[in-house]
Amino acid sequence: MGRTTIGIVLNGVTGRMGYRQHLVRSLLAIREQGGLALPDGRRLWPEPILVGRSEAKLREIAERHGLTEWTTDLRAALARPDVQIYFDSQVTAQREKALKLAIEAGKHIYTEKPTAEDLSGAIELARLADEAGIKHGAVQDKLFLPGLRKLDRLVKAGFFGRILSVRGEFGYWVFEGDWQAAQRPSWNYRAADGGGITVDMFPHWHYVLEQIFGRVAAVTAHVTTHIPQRWDEAGERYDATADDAAYGIFEIERPGQSGRIVAQINSSWSVRVYRDELVEFQVDGTEGSAVAGLRNCRIQHRAATPKPVWNPDLPATEDFRSQWQVVPDNEEFDNAFKAQWELFLRHVVADEPYSWDLWSGARGVQLAELGLASARDGRRIEIPALDGEPAR
Ligand SMILES: NC(=O)c1ccc[n+]([C@@H]2O[C@H](COP(=O)([O-])OP(=O)(O)OC[C@H]3O[C@@H](n4cnc5c(N)ncnc54)[C@H](O)[C@@H]3O)[C@@H](O)[C@H]2O)c1
Repeated sequence: MGRTTIGIVLNGVTGRMGYRQHLVRSLLAIREQGGLALPDGRRLWPEPILVGRSEAKLREIAERHGLTEWTTDLRAALARPDVQIYFDSQVTAQREKALKLAIEAGKHIYTEKPTAEDLSGAIELARLADEAGIKHGAVQDKLFLPGLRKLDRLVKAGFFGRILSVRGEFGYWVFEGDWQAAQRPSWNYRAADGGGITVDMFPHWHYVLEQIFGRVAAVTAHVTTHIPQRWDEAGERYDATADDAAYGIFEIERPGQSGRIVAQINSSWSVRVYRDELVEFQVDGTEGSAVAGLRNCRIQHRAATPKPVWNPDLPATEDFRSQWQVVPDNEEFDNAFKAQWELFLRHVVADEPYSWDLWSGARGVQLAELGLASARDGRRIEIPALDGEPAR
């Protein structure tokens, strides 16, 4: 069987996510494995067309990887008949207008999150994409990480009994940039440039909670900017106008379960790590509990639960961490971004089902927007269905 080539415009490929995760670890990795196997036996060969603002940077990346196609002219790239997919990993503030151009050009859309800067923009994109009859997807990489795959497996197996609560702890110290360079781009800390940890992380928490546990029905959040001054890539001091910590409470409706699951997730770029992984979720249920990170997942069953007695006069008598059991992988986990790219490519070319679309992305943007509103007004907010979302 032969090879079918698919042209994919990658816009934002000089950035952290675009280069490392999407180009190198996903599309080039698919080429290294000889293309993507399709159900009819053909192999799909992604042909990246690199788009960005700097010709020199694009050329350098292309030459480093033996690629031949790059341009600073997005419209020209979108006009090419050999291009079927437009992918966007630009800074968030640039996304919406580029996605609209691609939809107008009739290309399928795959995009980093958040899919737009605000909910009305995110809904409009989903609606326009549906009207144009194109296929669309939003990156939801955390779902494909080994730790969360194992957690999902536990939920599906009924391990927890009635699920009571989820506690998530995400974050690490992002250096201010004065005496040590910051390890994240400075736009993340400026509200006017689309920054802020709530708009960055709540979309992730939305799809994780929705797809593993159930519908996110209400949000209460407190957001703040702990570090008000930072230094940018050029060493210039700037005001950090965006939030760098968000403390959220999410209420989840789980089909078949009465009462809502309470999920509390702390997200912070101003916290030092005393954890095993940069994000961890503890799930407690009547029958058992689990702690899942990016890679690892540990469980404690009801029958193996210790019975600590509160007595601050005595040192702890038990090594609580050692009482948990490691959940085995039982399968090989590929890079999370690549795993989702492969599903999207099969959706486009072989019409396989795919639910991580722009509507799903818009629900993530909605959670961020309502989280910020909750924090601003000091109130808990019930989350309504999206305007115009088609029933499934
Ligand atoms: N899925 C994830 O886990 C994840 C993680 C981090 C970031 N992201 C998302 O990916 C996107 C890119 O984030 P990143 O961390 O790679 O950022 P980055 O700053 O490293 O890259 C941004 C890219 O956008 C381009 N760009 C286009 N117009 C620009 C402008 N006017 N100003 C600055 N850059 C411009 C840059 O050249 C670069 O290629 C964001 O939307 C972010 O929310 C997703």
